[in-house]
Amino acid sequence: DTPVYILAIESSCDDTAAAILHNSQVLSNVVARQSVHEQYGGVVPELASRAHQQNIVPVVDVALQKAGVEKQQLSAVAFTQGPGLMGSLLVGSSFAKSAAMALGVPLIAVNHMQAHILAHFIDEDGFDKPTFPFLAMTISGGHTQIVRVDSYFSMEVIGETTDDAVGEAFDKSAKILGLPYPGGPLVDKYAQLGNPKAYAFTKPQVPGLNFSFSGLKTQILYFVQRQLATDPDFIQNNMNDICASIQYTIINILMDKLKMAVKETGITQVAIGGGVSANSGIRNTLKEAEKKYGWKTYIPKFEYTTDNAAMIGIVGYHKFLEGQFNDSSVTSKARIEL
Ligand code: KG4
Ligand code: ZN
Repeated sequence: DTPVYILAIESSCDDTAAAILHNSQVLSNVVARQSVHEQYGGVVPELASRAHQQNIVPVVDVALQKAGVEKQQLSAVAFTQGPGLMGSLLVGSSFAKSAAMALGVPLIAVNHMQAHILAHFIDEDGFDKPTFPFLAMTISGGHTQIVRVDSYFSMEVIGETTDDAVGEAFDKSAKILGLPYPGGPLVDKYAQLGNPKAYAFTKPQVPGLNFSFSGLKTQILYFVQRQLATDPDFIQNNMNDICASIQYTIINILMDKLKMAVKETGITQVAIGGGVSANSGIRNTLKEAEKKYGWKTYIPKFEYTTDNAAMIGIVGYHKFLEGQFNDSSVTSKARIEL
Protein backbone atom coordinates (compact mmCIF):
# COMPACT_ATOMS: atom_id res chain seq x y z
CA ASP A 1 0.00 0.00 0.00
CA THR A 2 1.36 3.41 -0.93
CA PRO A 3 1.18 5.89 1.94
CA VAL A 4 -1.39 8.68 1.62
CA TYR A 5 -0.41 12.19 2.71
CA ILE A 6 -3.27 14.70 2.98
CA LEU A 7 -2.96 18.45 3.43
CA ALA A 8 -6.18 19.64 5.09
CA ILE A 9 -7.44 23.22 5.40
CA GLU A 10 -10.21 24.45 7.73
CA SER A 11 -11.43 28.07 7.57
CA SER A 12 -15.18 27.93 8.16
CA CYS A 13 -15.38 30.42 11.01
CA ASP A 14 -12.70 32.30 12.92
CA ASP A 15 -9.89 29.73 13.18
CA THR A 16 -7.39 29.31 10.36
CA ALA A 17 -6.22 25.71 10.53
CA ALA A 18 -4.03 23.31 8.56
CA ALA A 19 -3.06 19.70 9.21
CA ILE A 20 -0.99 16.99 7.57
CA LEU A 21 -2.13 13.38 7.85
CA HIS A 22 -0.30 10.20 6.96
CA ASN A 23 -3.17 7.77 6.39
CA SER A 24 -5.27 8.01 9.60
CA GLN A 25 -2.42 9.46 11.61
CA VAL A 26 -2.06 13.17 12.32
CA LEU A 27 1.49 14.41 11.74
CA SER A 28 0.72 18.06 12.47
CA ASN A 29 -2.36 20.04 13.46
CA VAL A 30 -1.91 23.82 13.47
CA VAL A 31 -4.53 26.41 14.43
CA ALA A 32 -4.21 30.20 14.31
CA ARG A 33 -6.94 31.61 16.53
CA GLN A 34 -8.20 35.09 15.69
CA SER A 35 -8.24 37.28 18.78
CA VAL A 36 -9.55 40.28 16.81
CA HIS A 37 -13.19 39.23 17.51
CA GLU A 38 -12.97 39.30 21.32
CA GLN A 39 -13.54 43.05 21.55
CA TYR A 40 -16.77 42.71 19.53
CA GLY A 41 -18.32 39.92 21.62
CA GLY A 42 -18.69 37.67 18.59
CA VAL A 43 -17.20 36.79 15.23
CA VAL A 44 -17.16 39.67 12.72
CA PRO A 45 -17.31 37.95 9.29
CA GLU A 46 -15.44 40.68 7.40
CA LEU A 47 -12.55 40.63 9.88
CA ALA A 48 -12.53 36.82 9.89
CA SER A 49 -11.97 36.54 6.13
CA ARG A 50 -9.27 39.17 6.25
CA ALA A 51 -7.44 37.35 9.05
CA HIS A 52 -7.75 34.04 7.16
CA GLN A 53 -6.03 35.68 4.18
CA GLN A 54 -3.16 36.80 6.39
CA ASN A 55 -2.84 33.48 8.21
CA ILE A 56 -3.39 30.78 5.65
CA VAL A 57 0.01 30.64 3.95
CA PRO A 58 2.05 30.73 7.20
CA VAL A 59 -0.25 28.20 8.87
CA VAL A 60 0.17 25.73 6.00
CA ASP A 61 3.95 26.28 6.00
CA VAL A 62 4.13 25.52 9.73
CA ALA A 63 1.94 22.41 9.29
CA LEU A 64 4.29 21.06 6.59
CA GLN A 65 7.38 21.88 8.64
CA LYS A 66 6.04 20.29 11.84
CA ALA A 67 5.03 17.18 9.91
CA GLY A 68 8.40 16.93 8.23
CA VAL A 69 6.62 16.49 4.92
CA GLU A 70 7.63 18.06 1.59
CA LYS A 71 4.79 19.44 -0.46
CA GLN A 72 5.82 17.15 -3.34
CA GLN A 73 4.89 14.17 -1.13
CA LEU A 74 1.24 15.24 -0.77
CA SER A 75 -1.40 12.90 -2.23
CA ALA A 76 -4.36 15.31 -2.06
CA VAL A 77 -5.60 18.61 -0.66
CA ALA A 78 -8.79 18.57 1.43
CA PHE A 79 -10.70 21.68 2.51
CA THR A 80 -13.90 22.67 4.29
CA GLN A 81 -16.67 23.30 1.76
CA GLY A 82 -19.22 24.34 4.41
CA PRO A 83 -21.23 25.06 6.45
CA GLY A 84 -19.75 28.32 7.67
CA LEU A 85 -19.18 31.98 6.87
CA MET A 86 -18.99 32.45 3.10
CA GLY A 87 -16.07 34.90 3.14
CA SER A 88 -14.09 32.61 5.44
CA LEU A 89 -14.85 29.46 3.44
CA LEU A 90 -13.78 31.16 0.20
CA VAL A 91 -10.27 31.84 1.50
CA GLY A 92 -9.76 28.15 2.34
CA SER A 93 -11.29 26.83 -0.86
CA SER A 94 -9.34 29.22 -3.10
CA PHE A 95 -6.10 28.27 -1.39
CA ALA A 96 -6.89 24.55 -1.61
CA LYS A 97 -7.82 24.75 -5.29
CA SER A 98 -4.60 26.59 -6.18
CA ALA A 99 -2.48 24.20 -4.11
CA ALA A 100 -4.07 21.09 -5.64
CA MET A 101 -3.65 22.52 -9.12
CA ALA A 102 -0.04 23.56 -8.56
CA LEU A 103 0.88 20.15 -7.12
CA GLY A 104 -1.19 18.18 -9.63
CA VAL A 105 -3.04 16.23 -6.90
CA PRO A 106 -6.76 15.61 -6.29
CA LEU A 107 -8.95 18.20 -4.54
CA ILE A 108 -11.38 16.96 -1.86
CA ALA A 109 -14.30 19.04 -0.49
CA VAL A 110 -15.28 18.17 3.08
CA ASN A 111 -18.46 18.83 5.08
CA HIS A 112 -17.44 20.44 8.39
CA MET A 113 -20.18 18.71 10.39
CA GLN A 114 -19.29 15.30 8.95
CA ALA A 115 -15.71 16.06 9.97
CA HIS A 116 -16.66 16.75 13.61
CA ILE A 117 -18.15 13.22 13.63
CA LEU A 118 -15.45 11.39 11.68
CA ALA A 119 -12.72 12.94 13.85
CA HIS A 120 -13.26 9.78 15.93
CA PHE A 121 -11.51 7.77 13.19
CA ILE A 122 -8.16 9.52 13.67
CA ASP A 123 -5.50 7.11 15.00
CA GLU A 124 -4.70 8.09 18.57
CA ASP A 125 -3.14 6.03 21.33
CA GLY A 126 -5.70 5.37 24.03
CA PHE A 127 -8.70 6.30 21.85
CA ASP A 128 -11.01 3.61 20.48
CA LYS A 129 -12.82 4.13 17.19
CA PRO A 130 -16.58 3.61 17.09
CA THR A 131 -18.03 0.82 14.95
CA PHE A 132 -21.09 1.34 12.74
CA PRO A 133 -23.84 2.08 13.48
CA PHE A 134 -23.34 4.66 16.20
CA LEU A 135 -25.02 7.84 17.41
CA ALA A 136 -23.13 11.12 17.22
CA MET A 137 -24.11 14.28 19.00
CA THR A 138 -22.49 17.30 17.37
CA ILE A 139 -22.46 20.24 19.73
CA SER A 140 -20.81 23.45 18.58
CA GLY A 141 -21.28 27.18 18.27
CA GLY A 142 -23.28 26.69 15.09
CA HIS A 143 -24.94 23.31 15.48
CA THR A 144 -26.67 20.95 17.84
CA GLN A 145 -27.57 17.66 16.20
CA ILE A 146 -28.06 14.02 17.00
CA VAL A 147 -26.95 11.95 14.01
CA ARG A 148 -27.34 8.27 13.24
CA VAL A 149 -24.10 7.19 11.54
CA ASP A 150 -24.37 3.99 9.46
CA SER A 151 -21.08 4.29 7.57
CA TYR A 152 -18.46 6.93 6.82
CA PHE A 153 -20.66 8.71 4.35
CA SER A 154 -24.16 7.65 5.26
CA MET A 155 -25.49 9.71 8.14
CA GLU A 156 -28.95 10.87 9.10
CA VAL A 157 -29.87 13.78 11.37
CA ILE A 158 -32.51 12.46 13.78
CA GLY A 159 -32.69 15.51 16.03
CA GLU A 160 -31.51 19.11 15.99
CA THR A 161 -31.98 22.51 17.54
CA THR A 162 -34.97 24.56 16.51
CA ASP A 163 -33.26 27.86 17.44
CA ASP A 164 -29.86 28.54 19.09
CA ALA A 165 -27.00 26.06 19.09
CA VAL A 166 -25.77 24.79 22.45
CA GLY A 167 -22.49 26.69 22.03
CA GLU A 168 -24.52 29.89 21.62
CA ALA A 169 -26.35 29.05 24.85
CA PHE A 170 -22.98 28.90 26.59
CA ASP A 171 -21.64 32.03 24.88
CA LYS A 172 -24.79 34.13 25.37
CA SER A 173 -25.07 33.11 29.03
CA ALA A 174 -21.43 34.08 29.46
CA LYS A 175 -22.10 37.45 27.85
CA ILE A 176 -24.95 38.09 30.33
CA LEU A 177 -22.41 37.43 33.09
CA GLY A 178 -20.01 39.93 31.54
CA LEU A 179 -17.53 37.29 30.35
CA PRO A 180 -15.61 37.81 27.08
CA TYR A 181 -16.34 35.92 23.85
CA PRO A 182 -16.25 32.94 23.42
CA GLY A 183 -17.54 32.40 26.93
CA GLY A 184 -18.14 28.64 26.80
CA PRO A 185 -14.69 27.66 28.09
CA LEU A 186 -14.95 30.25 30.91
CA VAL A 187 -18.37 29.02 32.03
CA ASP A 188 -16.79 25.55 32.13
CA LYS A 189 -13.85 26.81 34.19
CA TYR A 190 -16.02 28.53 36.83
CA ALA A 191 -18.56 25.68 36.83
CA GLN A 192 -15.90 23.27 38.03
CA LEU A 193 -15.67 25.28 41.28
CA GLY A 194 -19.39 25.78 41.84
CA ASN A 195 -22.53 24.02 43.04
CA PRO A 196 -24.60 22.81 40.06
CA LYS A 197 -27.78 22.83 42.15
CA ALA A 198 -27.37 26.35 43.56
CA TYR A 199 -29.96 27.80 41.15
CA ALA A 200 -32.67 25.92 39.27
CA PHE A 201 -33.44 26.69 35.64
CA THR A 202 -36.29 24.99 33.83
CA LYS A 203 -35.71 22.80 30.79
CA PRO A 204 -37.62 23.63 27.60
CA GLN A 205 -40.39 21.33 26.41
CA VAL A 206 -39.50 20.32 22.86
CA PRO A 207 -41.05 17.32 21.13
CA GLY A 208 -39.04 14.35 19.88
CA LEU A 209 -35.27 14.53 19.60
CA ASN A 210 -35.15 18.26 18.85
CA PHE A 211 -33.63 20.93 21.07
CA SER A 212 -34.32 24.54 21.96
CA PHE A 213 -31.92 26.85 23.77
CA SER A 214 -33.23 30.37 23.19
CA GLY A 215 -35.63 30.22 26.16
CA LEU A 216 -32.87 29.26 28.56
CA LYS A 217 -30.84 32.33 27.63
CA THR A 218 -33.86 34.59 28.31
CA GLN A 219 -34.52 32.80 31.59
CA ILE A 220 -30.94 33.38 32.70
CA LEU A 221 -31.07 37.03 31.67
CA TYR A 222 -34.22 37.70 33.75
CA PHE A 223 -32.85 35.71 36.68
CA VAL A 224 -29.61 37.71 36.71
CA GLN A 225 -31.43 41.04 36.31
CA ARG A 226 -33.74 40.19 39.24
CA GLN A 227 -30.77 39.34 41.46
CA LEU A 228 -28.81 42.44 40.43
CA ALA A 229 -31.76 44.66 41.40
CA THR A 230 -31.21 43.80 45.06
CA ASP A 231 -27.52 42.84 45.02
CA PRO A 232 -25.25 44.70 42.59
CA ASP A 233 -22.41 42.27 43.35
CA PHE A 234 -24.51 39.17 42.71
CA ILE A 235 -22.50 38.05 39.67
CA GLN A 236 -19.01 38.59 41.12
CA ASN A 237 -19.92 36.89 44.39
CA ASN A 238 -21.64 33.89 42.85
CA MET A 239 -19.91 33.35 39.49
CA ASN A 240 -18.97 29.72 40.20
CA ASP A 241 -22.45 28.69 41.35
CA ILE A 242 -24.20 30.54 38.50
CA CYS A 243 -21.93 28.92 35.89
CA ALA A 244 -22.27 25.47 37.49
CA SER A 245 -26.06 25.76 37.49
CA ILE A 246 -26.21 26.92 33.86
CA GLN A 247 -23.87 24.14 32.74
CA TYR A 248 -25.80 21.54 34.73
CA THR A 249 -29.07 22.59 33.03
CA ILE A 250 -27.53 22.48 29.56
CA ILE A 251 -26.02 19.04 30.17
CA ASN A 252 -29.38 17.74 31.40
CA ILE A 253 -31.08 19.02 28.25
CA LEU A 254 -28.50 17.25 26.08
CA MET A 255 -28.57 14.01 28.08
CA ASP A 256 -32.39 13.78 28.08
CA LYS A 257 -32.43 13.75 24.28
CA LEU A 258 -29.46 11.46 23.98
CA LYS A 259 -31.15 8.92 26.27
CA MET A 260 -34.28 9.21 24.15
CA ALA A 261 -32.26 8.66 20.95
CA VAL A 262 -30.61 5.54 22.39
CA LYS A 263 -34.02 4.20 23.38
CA GLU A 264 -35.55 4.90 19.96
CA THR A 265 -32.70 3.47 17.87
CA GLY A 266 -31.45 0.72 20.17
CA ILE A 267 -27.92 1.97 19.44
CA THR A 268 -25.81 2.26 22.59
CA GLN A 269 -22.56 3.52 21.04
CA VAL A 270 -22.53 7.28 21.54
CA ALA A 271 -19.93 9.72 20.25
CA ILE A 272 -19.73 13.48 20.74
CA GLY A 273 -18.02 16.09 18.60
CA GLY A 274 -17.81 19.85 18.10
CA GLY A 275 -16.46 22.65 20.26
CA VAL A 276 -18.81 22.07 23.19
CA SER A 277 -17.55 18.48 23.55
CA ALA A 278 -14.50 20.12 25.14
CA ASN A 279 -16.77 20.84 28.12
CA SER A 280 -15.56 19.01 31.22
CA GLY A 281 -19.08 18.50 32.57
CA ILE A 282 -20.26 16.86 29.36
CA ARG A 283 -17.16 14.71 29.16
CA ASN A 284 -17.61 13.47 32.75
CA THR A 285 -21.33 12.88 32.33
CA LEU A 286 -20.75 10.79 29.20
CA LYS A 287 -18.03 8.77 30.88
CA GLU A 288 -20.40 8.05 33.76
CA ALA A 289 -23.06 6.95 31.25
CA GLU A 290 -20.92 3.92 30.41
CA LYS A 291 -21.47 2.49 33.89
CA LYS A 292 -24.87 4.04 34.51
CA TYR A 293 -26.61 3.03 31.27
CA GLY A 294 -24.23 0.46 29.76
CA TRP A 295 -23.37 2.69 26.79
CA LYS A 296 -20.02 2.76 25.04
CA THR A 297 -19.09 6.42 24.72
CA TYR A 298 -16.49 8.12 22.52
CA ILE A 299 -15.08 11.45 23.60
CA PRO A 300 -12.62 13.09 21.22
CA LYS A 301 -9.13 14.10 22.18
CA PHE A 302 -9.28 17.72 23.35
CA GLU A 303 -7.52 19.17 20.30
CA TYR A 304 -10.05 17.55 17.94
CA THR A 305 -13.11 19.05 19.63
CA THR A 306 -13.02 22.72 18.63
CA ASP A 307 -12.48 23.59 14.98
CA ASN A 308 -9.33 22.01 13.57
CA ALA A 309 -8.00 20.75 10.25
CA ALA A 310 -7.08 17.23 11.41
CA MET A 311 -10.77 16.32 11.31
CA ILE A 312 -10.99 17.66 7.75
CA GLY A 313 -7.94 15.53 6.93
CA ILE A 314 -9.44 12.27 8.20
CA VAL A 315 -12.53 12.80 6.04
CA GLY A 316 -10.19 13.66 3.16
CA TYR A 317 -8.35 10.38 3.72
CA HIS A 318 -11.50 8.27 3.60
CA LYS A 319 -12.76 10.14 0.53
CA PHE A 320 -9.35 9.61 -1.06
CA LEU A 321 -9.64 5.84 -0.50
CA GLU A 322 -13.07 5.88 -2.14
CA GLY A 323 -11.92 8.11 -5.02
CA GLN A 324 -14.37 10.87 -4.06
CA PHE A 325 -12.66 13.86 -5.65
CA ASN A 326 -13.88 17.31 -6.74
CA ASP A 327 -12.93 19.42 -9.71
CA SER A 328 -12.00 23.07 -9.32
CA SER A 329 -15.56 24.23 -10.10
CA VAL A 330 -16.70 23.04 -6.64
CA THR A 331 -18.29 25.91 -4.71
CA SER A 332 -18.28 26.84 -1.02
CA LYS A 333 -21.62 26.54 0.74
CA ALA A 334 -22.68 28.56 3.79
CA ARG A 335 -25.37 25.94 4.42
CA ILE A 336 -24.96 22.29 3.59
CA GLU A 337 -26.75 19.12 4.68
CA LEU A 338 -24.93 16.14 6.19
O1 KG4 B 1 -16.81 23.60 16.88
P1 KG4 B 1 -16.44 24.98 17.29
O2 KG4 B 1 -14.97 25.26 17.54
O3 KG4 B 1 -16.89 26.02 16.21
C1 KG4 B 1 -18.13 25.91 15.58
O4 KG4 B 1 -18.19 25.19 14.54
O5 KG4 B 1 -19.08 26.51 16.11
O6 KG4 B 1 -17.29 25.36 18.57
C2 KG4 B 1 -17.14 26.59 19.23
C3 KG4 B 1 -18.10 26.63 20.41
C4 KG4 B 1 -18.20 27.99 21.07
O7 KG4 B 1 -19.57 28.29 21.29
C5 KG4 B 1 -17.46 27.78 22.41
O8 KG4 B 1 -17.91 28.61 23.44
C6 KG4 B 1 -17.80 26.34 22.69
O9 KG4 B 1 -17.69 25.70 21.43
N1 KG4 B 1 -16.88 25.74 23.67
C7 KG4 B 1 -17.25 25.34 24.91
C8 KG4 B 1 -16.08 24.85 25.54
N2 KG4 B 1 -15.04 24.97 24.66
C9 KG4 B 1 -15.55 25.50 23.53
N3 KG4 B 1 -18.45 25.36 25.51
C10 KG4 B 1 -18.51 24.88 26.76
N4 KG4 B 1 -17.44 24.41 27.44
C11 KG4 B 1 -16.22 24.37 26.87
N5 KG4 B 1 -15.18 23.88 27.55
ZN1 ZN C 1 -17.09 23.32 14.24
